[in-house]
Amino acid sequence: MKQIAIFSSGSGTNAENIIKYFSESEEARVGAVFCNNPKAGVIDKAHKLGVRCIVFDPHQLADGYVLAKLKDCRADLIVLAGFLKKIPTEILDEYEDRVINIHPSLLPDYGGEGMYGMHIHRAIVENEEEETGITIHYVSDDYDEGEIIFQEAIEVDFEDSPEDVQYKVQQLEHKHYPEVIEYLLRDL
Ligand code: GAR
Repeated sequence: MKQIAIFSSGSGTNAENIIKYFSESEEARVGAVFCNNPKAGVIDKAHKLGVRCIVFDPHQLADGYVLAKLKDCRADLIVLAGFLKKIPTEILDEYEDRVINIHPSLLPDYGGEGMYGMHIHRAIVENEEEETGITIHYVSDDYDEGEIIFQEAIEVDFEDSPEDVQYKVQQLEHKHYPEVIEYLLRDL
């Protein structure tokens, strides 16, 4: 059974969706959720679904504690889902080509430091963009710059609010992220 480790900092709708998707699988399951924010909604969502949550502080991310926990749970793939801290180089080196992220825009557009969540959807509406979408990519040392694995676009309607755009993007994320994870796990 392959083990997925999810990293999340926030509400955790993607984490919840991925845990549910793999709960029926005979190939893989979510072994643990890693969270840097003790107040994040993802902690409760993971516990309700019977998945343990490892909450850590910034020092523990950098000093080897998180890496040791990843090894403990024999993670095959690290899946970032709304995780807002940088992954240290030591972890990227140890899990080369096995750390992926989802980003709520069509990278390279609306990427980089400070570009996350509603900041992106607000900018999309303010700039009257006609489309947006999602990008799933490998994680590298620079924000949102790793090799792109998958993208899907959606139309932005003239009357869409940032919340409407967020909803549409979230639907896309929930549809595609588990499938892409499943596809990648087959080769690991
Ligand atoms: C998701 O839309 C994800 O793409 C985004 O944060 C949201 C987390 O939602 N990630 C980024 O913006 C990373 N730069 P969730 O906690 O409900 O899964």
